[in-house]
Amino acid sequence: MKPDYYLSEEIFRREQEKVFTRLWIFFGLTTMLADHNSFIARTLSGIPVVVQNFNNRLRAFENICLHRQNALQWEDSGKRPLVCRYHGWGYNAEGFAENIPSDAEIYRFDPKERSGLTLRSFHLEVIGKLVFINLSADPLPIAEQFPAEFIESLRSSSEMYDSEVLVARVRTRFNWKLAYENLRDANHPPFVHAQTLAKSVDFHAVIDEAQHRRSENVCEGAASGDRTRQMELLRSFSFGGPDTALNELKPLEWHGAVDRFGNLEHYYNWLAYPNLHIASGSGGYSFTLEQHNPVAPGVTELVVYWLTAKKKRPYPAMAAVLQASLNGGFRVLEEDIRIMEMVQKNLHAGAPLPRQGDYEYLNKMVEKWYSDLMDGDFEI
Ligand code: FES
Ligand SMILES: [Fe+2]
Repeated sequence: MKPDYYLSEEIFRREQEKVFTRLWIFFGLTTMLADHNSFIARTLSGIPVVVQNFNNRLRAFENICLHRQNALQWEDSGKRPLVCRYHGWGYNAEGFAENIPSDAEIYRFDPKERSGLTLRSFHLEVIGKLVFINLSADPLPIAEQFPAEFIESLRSSSEMYDSEVLVARVRTRFNWKLAYENLRDANHPPFVHAQTLAKSVDFHAVIDEAQHRRSENVCEGAASGDRTRQMELLRSFSFGGPDTALNELKPLEWHGAVDRFGNLEHYYNWLAYPNLHIASGSGGYSFTLEQHNPVAPGVTELVVYWLTAKKKRPYPAMAAVLQASLNGGFRVLEEDIRIMEMVQKNLHAGAPLPRQGDYEYLNKMVEKWYSDLMDGDFEI
């Protein structure tokens, strides 16, 4: 797209408003929220959000104390009641400040003000073991964002996730859109991942002629204000399941300790628009989830989760298995990050526009849809 889409502060703000505060955004895993008082905290679109388990009810609140704005939960995840560490205000499952120490003696709020001390809450949806958040007060149904068969595929695969998970959070210096343009591009692995991923998977860029014609129709048409058509297009950006066959799947000792997802010797790949990527490079024995949270036009927070399929029996060395998979996975990620940071660093207002070929039909469709949305031709 035009360099401005990756560089401009104004466009970034508009994008946060039109995309990230309207769509359902992946937030975390239910396996990290299994116990009473367990929580996950993240910042989405500049808003700190906490999802907390209250006696097996998951609730999402703004992670800011109503007294003097201290963060209620400080860690990325953990287990403690929703109580502020500054002056001890404690919140219940409704987000209400149920316990204010020395309330009557030193605060003396009038009853009306006291009864309104409730945290801002957000809508939450759970698909299998995946938690999604919507920052809008009036969210679109999640089934308008994702096709039914995709939701089912996310549900059935994530049901197989084990509860032991390794999470890493890194700041990268590129615009989040570059990551997804790269993930929709099957022509880069033989070049970028020649020594890593491309050794075990033969990625081939192929032109799906029907999709290519569809993309040409979409891109050559005028900006479309037809919301039904635009939402249909949006749903086609999220898909997943078995991808290319693996060259070989080396049997590893821990494979015997887990209940594998599916039975195909394939690379699995799920893309959930706008910012979640899930992959299994081990034919369903393990998974990697990548969530890209935009922070600024040229800054993206990347949260990566490593986990295996559900353990059938205790496997004491699983932490080491996950650590090894993190080390291998990061090599591949770093190869992509390096390219995207290079692209971002070189971009400037007068940079040449991209020349995409026919195999890039999907990126072209996403870009057309996105520009229509950003130009105000339709609203989500
Ligand atoms: S800021 Fe939270 S109790 Fe004072
Ligand atoms: Fe890559």
